[in-house]
Amino acid sequence: MKYLFGLVLLMIVAAGGLMGGAIVLRWTDNMTATVRLVPGERVLSMPAGTLPRTGGELTPPREERDAGAKRPNPVKATPDSIAKGKALFAIYCSPCHGPEGKGNGTVTPKFIPPPDVTNATLQKQRTDGYWQHVIGTGGAIMPAYGEALAPEERWHVVNFLRSIAQK
Ligand code: HEC
Repeated sequence: MKYLFGLVLLMIVAAGGLMGGAIVLRWTDNMTATVRLVPGERVLSMPAGTLPRTGGELTPPREERDAGAKRPNPVKATPDSIAKGKALFAIYCSPCHGPEGKGNGTVTPKFIPPPDVTNATLQKQRTDGYWQHVIGTGGAIMPAYGEALAPEERWHVVNFLRSIAQK
């Protein structure tokens, strides 16, 4: 009887040890045993119909506004580019900025009013790269449009914004 108690105790401890060991083994084993993709191992192509965020253009993250501001505008401000920018502006930006960029969009009374982007002083202060970066990554309050607009489209919008600058 004396030994039986000891034996049961020993069996419980042994079973617990085994279970614990199995858990430890699974945890330590998992990381290397699973199917995984090593960075650079394979080059995956973009799925058809998706919008690449960078489009071959390196876009600095939101925190690196200065780096974004330094990038030159690769898209010439042709009438075609301005027209494209205008159409995109009407879709994505006019609800807040108003159709002419004056900051009088339909949602503006219910939202924080955006600045008049046609303002000559503001236009002078900002580089094309700065605005293209703001449009793609968002401002303090303004939402980011990097998901909706490809980099080139954002340059078109910047060209449009320049075309409506007050003299
Ligand atoms: C939800 C409302 C809203 C929408 C939509 C919106 N904006 Fe803005 N935008 C703002 C607000 C508010 C500010 C000022 C505060 C800030 O920078 O976040 C601003 C600021 C700006 C500025 C000035 C940044 C500066 O300081 O020089 C530009 C340029 C601009 N927006 C362009 C655009 C363009 C282009 C679009 C469309 C792709 C757009 N915005 C869509 C609200 C909006």
